[in-house]
Amino acid sequence: MFGKKKPIPQIDKNQLELIENAQKRIKQKKRLYVHFVIFLIGAVFLIVANTVLGIGKDFTLFGINWFVFAILIWLFFFLYHLFNVFVTHKFMGKAWEKEQLDKLVSKQQQRIDKLKAGFEKEEKLMAQSEVYSESNAEPKKLQSELTIIVAAAENNAIGLGNKLIWHLSDDLKRFKSLTNGHHIIMGRKTFESFPKPLPNRTHVVITRQKDYEAPEGVIIVHNLEDAIDASKSDSQPFIIGGGQIYKQAMTIADKIELTRVHHDFDADTFFPEIDASVWKETANVFHKKDDNHDYEFSFLTYERK
Ligand SMILES: NC(=O)c1ccc[n+]([C@@H]2O[C@H](COP(=O)([O-])OP(=O)(O)OC[C@H]3O[C@@H](n4cnc5c(N)ncnc54)[C@H](OP(=O)(O)O)[C@@H]3O)[C@@H](O)[C@H]2O)c1
Repeated sequence: MFGKKKPIPQIDKNQLELIENAQKRIKQKKRLYVHFVIFLIGAVFLIVANTVLGIGKDFTLFGINWFVFAILIWLFFFLYHLFNVFVTHKFMGKAWEKEQLDKLVSKQQQRIDKLKAGFEKEEKLMAQSEVYSESNAEPKKLQSELTIIVAAAENNAIGLGNKLIWHLSDDLKRFKSLTNGHHIIMGRKTFESFPKPLPNRTHVVITRQKDYEAPEGVIIVHNLEDAIDASKSDSQPFIIGGGQIYKQAMTIADKIELTRVHHDFDADTFFPEIDASVWKETANVFHKKDDNHDYEFSFLTYERK
């Protein structure tokens, strides 16, 4: 069961072929060398046979001894052999080269076909996944999460005389951290309630006035849809008020970040009722009254059901 396995040669077919050819070539050169030695000995033998032993001494051709012709003919064959080994590579030769080239070409072709097949398969899968995701995608809705941010009293009061009614520093901090770096969409009146534009936010101001002028960088639009369109690069644009804009945005917003101030106030501007059949509360953090906060309040998050 655990007996020694027969070693399997680790050389592939091509390498084996190359080794065999190299061995053949060495043999061919050896044979040429042997031929050369025999030729030298043979030439000396012919000379000795003719001149010393007197074999065929009377046989001449054009006045020249026969062994000279014999050596020249042999030399011719030797040179022919030499030529074959070093110049024409007869046994490796053109046919061999062509065979190798054909093999190489067919191998490359196989690789190309394989790559092509892989590429086509990948392309098909990509096309399928595109079709799949397109057919399964919900009707293209804005990817961003349109969020209303507001501080409202128990009676939904939000402002009086174009001003906020209370000062709650932790609420302002929360507003700052949530809206930082985002688009803030507001009505013209809310915009004018600020002493100056808030830093690090893109202001989008809605007004019906076609010639309304605002500081550089503030985007002026003439309806809520255009305000949302102007914020489409933002993953979470905020609707920051006031009363008129909140009312219009309630039907299209995805989320509400509400600071509920636990008190009733006189006001001239109010936040709409939050319809429990449309919105579900997903977070609720209570903040008690303290030296910096005159009223108790809660940070509530609502998401559209
Ligand atoms: N508690 C909070 O969280 C909070 C937040 C924000 C604001 N507020 C308060 O809310 C009050 C301001 O709210 P508000 O309701 O009076 O004003 P607003 O909503 O801020 O702005 C109203 C103005 O927006 C423009 N507008 C509104 N709807 C439009 C439409 N469909 N197309 C084009 N323009 C449109 C009009 O500007 P034109 O008149 O120029 O055409 C309109 O007069 C202030 O007291 C502020 O302090 C409270």
